[in-house]
Amino acid sequence: MESVTKGIILAGGSGTRLHPMTSAFSKQLQPIYDKPMIYYPLSTLMMGGVQQIMIISTPQDTPVFERLLGDGSRFGIHLQYAVQDQPRGIAEAFLIAEDFIGQDNVVLILGDNVFYGKLDFLRTAINAHRTGDRGATIFGYPVQDAQRYGVVEMSADGTVRSLEEKPAAPRSNLAIPGLYVYDSSVCQIAKGLKPSARGELEITSVHQAYLDQERLHVELIGRGIAWLDTGTPESLLEASTFIHAIEKRQGLKIGCLEEVALARGYLTTEAFKASVEQLPASPYREYCERLLN
Ligand code: DAU
Repeated sequence: MESVTKGIILAGGSGTRLHPMTSAFSKQLQPIYDKPMIYYPLSTLMMGGVQQIMIISTPQDTPVFERLLGDGSRFGIHLQYAVQDQPRGIAEAFLIAEDFIGQDNVVLILGDNVFYGKLDFLRTAINAHRTGDRGATIFGYPVQDAQRYGVVEMSADGTVRSLEEKPAAPRSNLAIPGLYVYDSSVCQIAKGLKPSARGELEITSVHQAYLDQERLHVELIGRGIAWLDTGTPESLLEASTFIHAIEKRQGLKIGCLEEVALARGYLTTEAFKASVEQLPASPYREYCERLLN
């Protein structure tokens, strides 16, 4: 039987840096220009070929995501939901999703990570996991403020020299975006983790464990891909401005889930039409209707 690659969107956390915007509902429900933030990471997974996806969020917000996205059938995908009752760290996602992952490979994307550009790097990584014996794939992306992220330092021969979470003095400018591909052993690795000094199950510790097993693959991405930050009010505004500028120039939407579903063949033309007919009168619906002409 052909193995599937599953997806997890981690969309919990406290979002305190965006207070008071996040005091009533979560960060990943905030708008980036004309769509809720989670549309963007969800469209990234869909474009990567992932159709079985678990969304993990807080007890308060999980029902809101469910109201927003339903069971995914409108987009030709399968969505399910799980609760993380406390933000105990990104790696807790693998404990929560253990049964969902089963024996399959899994892509984790953080619900506040926005990518724009050709996603071949993701499809290539997913394929490499499907066809080979790869443990984990993470990506390296050059930034000017690496101290805010997980950081990977590479040797000239392409091997990994070090991994650090938010180092005060980064050893490289390569940040690790919140998009990762793993084999099913990630659940065992997560079970072996101890909380860090800040009390979290760190995603960087998962990657360190794969590195210790010599099963960590790092793929450098950069030019041609925009990886946007949404962590502060200013970066949220910049992300909106970026999406707006491109959508306005091209007349094409970024992160339109119905469009991705049609383009990837997750929805037939008939199913797409039926899905669009459910949308309220809006520029978003008009855009979807225009896609058929
Ligand atoms: O954005 C990429 C970065 O994301 C990586 O470079 C870092 O290695 C990784 O640790 C993470 O850093 P952040 O500072 O962005 O982590 P933060 O704690 O803000 O969590 C990222 C997202 O995951 C955020 O939207 C909330 C969600 N989250 C986080 C934790 C700790 C949860 O849903 N549950 C949690 O327990």
